[in-house]
Amino acid sequence: MAKLIDGKGIAAEVRADIKKRAAEFAAETGVTPGLAVIIVGDNPASQVYVRNKKKACEDVGFYSEVIEMSGDTTMPELLGKIEELKNDSRVHGILVQLPLPKGLDEDAVIAAIPPEKDVDAFHVVNTGRIMLGDFDFLPCTPAGVMKLLEHEGVDVSGKECVVVGRSNIVGKPQAMLLLHANGTVTICHSRTKDLAEVTRRADILVVAIGKADFITGDMIKPGAVVIDVGMNRREDGKLTGDVDFATAEPVASLITPVPGGVGPMTITMLLENTLTAAKRSVK
Ligand code: GUN
Repeated sequence: MAKLIDGKGIAAEVRADIKKRAAEFAAETGVTPGLAVIIVGDNPASQVYVRNKKKACEDVGFYSEVIEMSGDTTMPELLGKIEELKNDSRVHGILVQLPLPKGLDEDAVIAAIPPEKDVDAFHVVNTGRIMLGDFDFLPCTPAGVMKLLEHEGVDVSGKECVVVGRSNIVGKPQAMLLLHANGTVTICHSRTKDLAEVTRRADILVVAIGKADFITGDMIKPGAVVIDVGMNRREDGKLTGDVDFATAEPVASLITPVPGGVGPMTITMLLENTLTAAKRSVK
């Protein structure tokens, strides 16, 4: 029987600390950290994520702004909005919710966000700095995973770490953070031969592939720490991760539930980045 990692509870602790540090910073400088989120179109999942981000900002006393743009927004209109926010001194962080509707160029949009306001850490300047290990902005989801490991007293140094998934948002930066923590890191993906043979080596297994219940208990080393980044909706409407919890939980020593595991930590790290951006703006 694995111990559950309470992401919701840990996120609440970290957010209380962010709120305290933001209040201290505001008292010192008169600056309230501010986040602007742009959402284009009416993707229902994106709308939920954006609502949660706004609420999280308000809960820690940040200024927050949501800019809703219609699904037929053009590139010049979107880039114009980013330009406005670039020059808005109340806004320290700019986030454009992805995915964007077809016809809009995500890479060009990310490139237009000034690196010092890029609280997602998606801009090439920030991803490059993450690779080098010298960065201001945390990649939100991978950093949330590291925070959970740290909170549970899991020492990454020297451990076999296997990351399943190689996305720019999660898999690749996750591998970098585990490497910076001195893990021995393997990245698996859809072309990996004998995936189970690799995942069974993992002392720490991080799964971010977007396939419901894909990693089963027989693919996990007894006693492994299992971190499930997945967020999938099953046919019955229930949320589920990329790990088949029912078969994984008896094998693992520590495991994150979905929901209530990694999810709450992602937004927490976004708040941390927004505070960092505000602090750097007065330096
Ligand atoms: N869509 C899903 N996750 C994310 C995220 O972390 N940032 C942005 N901007 N869009 C997303």
